[in-house]
Amino acid sequence: MGSELSGVLVPFQGEKGTLIPILQAVQAKFGYLPEEAVFEVARFLDMPASEIYGVATFYSQFRFTPPGKHTVKVCLGTACYVRGGAQIMEAIETELGIKAGETTPDMQFGLERVACFGCCALAPVIVIDDTVYSKMTPGKAKEIISSYK
Ligand code: FES
Repeated sequence: MGSELSGVLVPFQGEKGTLIPILQAVQAKFGYLPEEAVFEVARFLDMPASEIYGVATFYSQFRFTPPGKHTVKVCLGTACYVRGGAQIMEAIETELGIKAGETTPDMQFGLERVACFGCCALAPVIVIDDTVYSKMTPGKAKEIISSYK
């Protein structure tokens, strides 16, 4: 990864306060933050990798596993939450055997939580790739996930 990553890091040489833009650039390149890349960024910025993880986990935009073929996003914003968003998330976690933020071992599905899709009238909402599914129930969500398998 070394030389692949150096192109990403070079523009940040000598800059201060660049951790977030660097992590964004790394994620844009790889689709997530590979462990090896985080260690290289740590060397580059001369700071402990643990500190980078501490910062990165604070921001929901960063992911630490490769994205799956399909991205399943479950809205847990207020409108969706009060209409059962958490139960839908639970049903999908069970169906896929992973937790939010993870990717299935076969790399078919990545699961993410979202704070609001901006279509609260359709709550509860899940989005798979670019398709919005409205008025979800745990049962319907499981069926839809199965149709992608
Ligand atoms: S809270 Fe779910 S779409 Fe707004």
